[in-house]
Amino acid sequence: MITTHCNEHDHGMTANAFMSISLNPPLVAISIARNARMLANIQQTGRFAVSILAEGMEDLAWHFAGKPKPYLCDFFERRDGLPVIADAAAIFVTELVEEILAGDHTIFLGRVREMSYDLSKKPLLFFRGKFGGLADPQPAPPTLENAGYEFIW
Ligand SMILES: Cc1cc2nc3c(=O)[nH]c(=O)nc-3n(C[C@H](O)[C@H](O)[C@H](O)COP(=O)(O)O)c2cc1C
Repeated sequence: MITTHCNEHDHGMTANAFMSISLNPPLVAISIARNARMLANIQQTGRFAVSILAEGMEDLAWHFAGKPKPYLCDFFERRDGLPVIADAAAIFVTELVEEILAGDHTIFLGRVREMSYDLSKKPLLFFRGKFGGLADPQPAPPTLENAGYEFIW
């Protein structure tokens, strides 16, 4: 989820085009469609935040993808003046450093000013038009040493 605060309004938009770019300096990238309202909002404010939604937050994802869920409320908290999703799995607060035109999208590079994460939460995934979650981690496969085999050479 991308968020910003523009003209005294909080604005959120569901996005999965997000990646980390650089550690030093700390940069992340998002890609925003030309026709999304978020594009002009970020250009105007020069700031955006990214909230990695946690499992169970599907309704919020649809809400900010143009399918409003009127029963949702109190989902924002504030970080450094920007709205972010309360109880997200991770949060990045950034300042816009570069804009790259890419077809019908614009890639925004943001320098991370603040980040936090909650290791108890798993991220919400999106695959083939549906939301889902990560499988529980599997134990490592047995190695020759711990598999209990005896080798005769
Ligand atoms: C799972 C999912 C991922 C999406 N990812 C992106 C994205 O990375 N970039 C983008 O521009 N739109 C993306 N969208 C579409 C926007 O969320 C949608 O067009 C939204 O209504 C635009 O909001 P706005 O015009 O109010 O800014 C995605 C939608 C969904 C459901």
